[in-house]
Amino acid sequence: MKLFASTLLASCVPSACLAVVHSTWAFDKIPPAGLRDITFAFNVANAPHRVGFYFAQQFNFQNISKVGYTGLQPQVDVNGNSVIRGVFSSFQNGTTTNHPNCRPGADGGPGVSCGFIFPANYNHKFNMTVQNIGNTTWRGTAVDTVTNNATEIGVWTLPPTSGGILDSQLGFVEYFPWNNGKPHNCSTLPFTEVTMFNPTSKTTGASGGKITSVYEQPNLCEHLVNFSDTLVPGGHDIKVGFL
Ligand SMILES: *[C@@H]1O[C@H](CO)[C@@H](O)[C@H](O)[C@H]1NC(C)=O
Ligand SMILES: *[C@@H]1O[C@H](CO)[C@@H](O)[C@H](O)[C@H]1NC(C)=O
Ligand SMILES: *[C@@H]1O[C@H](CO)[C@@H](O)[C@H](O)[C@H]1NC(C)=O
Ligand SMILES: *[C@@H]1O[C@H](CO)[C@@H](O)[C@H](O)[C@H]1NC(C)=O
Ligand SMILES: *[C@@H]1O[C@H](CO)[C@@H](O)[C@H](O)[C@H]1NC(C)=O
Ligand SMILES: *[C@@H]1O[C@H](CO)[C@@H](O)[C@H](O)[C@H]1NC(C)=O
Ligand SMILES: *[C@@H]1O[C@H](CO)[C@@H](O)[C@H](O)[C@H]1NC(C)=O
Repeated sequence: MKLFASTLLASCVPSACLAVVHSTWAFDKIPPAGLRDITFAFNVANAPHRVGFYFAQQFNFQNISKVGYTGLQPQVDVNGNSVIRGVFSSFQNGTTTNHPNCRPGADGGPGVSCGFIFPANYNHKFNMTVQNIGNTTWRGTAVDTVTNNATEIGVWTLPPTSGGILDSQLGFVEYFPWNNGKPHNCSTLPFTEVTMFNPTSKTTGASGGKITSVYEQPNLCEHLVNFSDTLVPGGHDIKVGFL
């Protein structure tokens, strides 16, 4: 799968390059200094409680080249209670953190990765929010939109030259057991489902955030797995893999 990684390296981080489904998002308008916050909502009500899939949205910042991403990874129930892992990472060299959920490095390269497993009702929609909390420091939070309970996933600081969040990037559905560099069999992709909602921002001057497309990653398992993309109010419902 190295072939696809090298041809697509310019447009996505290594793990995203191996994602079976990609999406794109964009705002119609953002202010010149970029966004100070962005929210990507996800509904995972029909996602099996198994480890393997990562539902993510990436974002770029002014004046630095590498993306950050945030999203959710379903987990196996613990003592009959459902839990999920929230992720919030930066691939930018020079990103710093002292948050207990975070560690240096991201997907084997520079950056900072934050992850936190928390009790989660899969029937509730989650807002994954990225918010500037001063200077170039950003906080990632998972908010249960039914209970309003907010779980801090992590906090990291980008290099001092970095600015606000840019107006467009990619999202993806990744089956990460396949990131081991070995050949994989598309017929064995487990089923999952996620609704990805249009991005929103409270930053003054931001409007028209939308998921602009959803598509199977070319050449990975395109046309070899069940896949559907259905428009639902405020977003896209994505099904992929075999029951
Ligand atoms: C990251 O930055 C450090 C310090 O500036 C530098 O030594 C290192 O080579 C950089 N690493 C990468 C992968 O760019
Ligand atoms: C809110 O979330 C935290 C962290 O996930 C959890 O420990 C706590 O029990 C939750 N509180 C409520 C009222 O659900
Ligand atoms: C922002 O930077 C200033 C100057 O270095 C510092 O005093 C302040 O504590 C920083 N604020 C945050 C939230 O990091
Ligand atoms: C979740 O995000 C939506 C869209 O930005 C917002 O309207 C809603 O108030 C948020 N919910 C919570 C609980 O933060
Ligand atoms: C981004 O870089 C430009 C050109 O170097 C600089 O003028 C601008 O102030 C930088 N933005 C931020 C937020 O530091
Ligand atoms: C791929 O998996 C399917 C379903 O388990 C199996 O029938 C098929 O033989 C596998 N193909 C290869 C090349 O291993
Ligand atoms: C997927 O496709 C197979 C045939 O290739 C079919 O049997 C199955 O019902 C489809 N749906 C799901 C959700 O797996």
